[in-house]
Amino acid sequence: MSFLTTAARMWLTRSAKPFCFTKEYDQNLPYTDTQQLGLYIHIPFCREICSFCPYCKVRYEKQLAQRYIDALTEEIHLVGKQQGNRKKTVTSLYIGGGSPALAVDRLAEIIGVVKIYFEITEGIGIELHPDEVTVPLLQKLKQAGVTKISIGIQSFQETFLKVLGRTSSDYETMFQAIRKVAFETVSMDFIFALPGETFALLKQDIDTAFEGGADHIAIYPFIDFSFAEHQIPLMDNREKRKLLEDITSYCREKGCYRESIWTFSKHGGKKYSSMTRENFLGFGCSATTLLEKQFKINTFSVEEYIRRIAVHHLPTALTLRFTERQRMVYYLFWTAYTTRVSEADFEGFFGVPLRKKYGLELWLAKRLKYITHHGGIYEMTSKGAFYYHYYENYYTLSYIDQMWNLLRKKAFPEKIRF
Ligand SMILES: C[S@@+](CC[C@H](N)C(=O)[O-])C[C@H]1O[C@@H](n2cnc3c(N)ncnc32)[C@H](O)[C@@H]1O
Ligand code: SF4
Repeated sequence: MSFLTTAARMWLTRSAKPFCFTKEYDQNLPYTDTQQLGLYIHIPFCREICSFCPYCKVRYEKQLAQRYIDALTEEIHLVGKQQGNRKKTVTSLYIGGGSPALAVDRLAEIIGVVKIYFEITEGIGIELHPDEVTVPLLQKLKQAGVTKISIGIQSFQETFLKVLGRTSSDYETMFQAIRKVAFETVSMDFIFALPGETFALLKQDIDTAFEGGADHIAIYPFIDFSFAEHQIPLMDNREKRKLLEDITSYCREKGCYRESIWTFSKHGGKKYSSMTRENFLGFGCSATTLLEKQFKINTFSVEEYIRRIAVHHLPTALTLRFTERQRMVYYLFWTAYTTRVSEADFEGFFGVPLRKKYGLELWLAKRLKYITHHGGIYEMTSKGAFYYHYYENYYTLSYIDQMWNLLRKKAFPEKIRF
């Protein structure tokens, strides 16, 4: 498989050059003319650490969290100031973690600093743990300017929560809070393909979410990161494919729009995820930044992050500088996550028609019934979506897993190449 992916990478990028991430980094990020820019902020604190979770997080300590937020606001100033007196228009701000609600008392301040430099046009989202969803918290979030919330339910069912090592929450309080304090979007996250899970059980969770006030759901297949300390057996691929197809048909029957491989929305065509933006700037530990010519990732170490910022340097751990073809592959891979790729958007981004660069691959994908083509849009079929999921899972486990594992051990590694 690794030979095949190297061959695929060489074919798609038309080069033997690997994706090479190195320690050198830009102190000034070239984002001022970037269109369709999203913002991401990472808050890496949690009250309890879940064994299945691969994200960059540490146990919450008040003092450390305060020092971190001081550094975070400084990072936003450092990057924001680079555009002089101009205010940059950005699509959205997404605050993830970790459990960002642990920073609720300083959220208005953080958002205030962002707004000195950026004009947000499509709202502010935040990730929440179900235990945190109460009326007072939601009111504070709303006052701070949050418009979208995303709650990490994982499962409403005791059996699967137990498999994940999580305890159940007071869902009645959560649903009442959602009913009382309205947001533009209420999303709920689930993890599926857990041992013993059936479509009937998943359907119950989807119904509970929509009946309880969610208008958007994200259903992720369980990903078995090598460094996560859990003992969860994996579901067979065929069973997983069937589940994914059943969930997709069910959500469509309920009138939902498939916004991306894993997300379904009751309102057509609104982007919610931070990942499906064409470009984004990330602030905080482990946050990534994707621009026209580079991808960079911040250090995973909270202490090293604070130390770098204290000397007014960006906390970048690794930077990848793209060749044009590498950027195209990256663009297509992440845009395909939305299950559709627009010819006009691709040409707008790269100044060259998609068909001119990847005509043969598109023809082949159409022949294999992975995609359809109409009105300038290439759209994935459910067969295509499954294979994309399969490849994405492989990519996550081979590349992201390796990189995160390295960054968990070393604050500023020399390099990593794929
Ligand atoms: C950063 S997490 C957290 C949200 C919040 N802290 C919580 O625990 O509810 C974002 C989402 O990633 C998903 N996730 C975490 N670990 C995963 C894994 N190993 N496989 C698949 N999805 C995962 C979960 O659905 C989770 O809600
Ligand atoms: S799933 Fe959420 S609460 Fe659990 S460790 Fe990950 S970020 Fe923290």
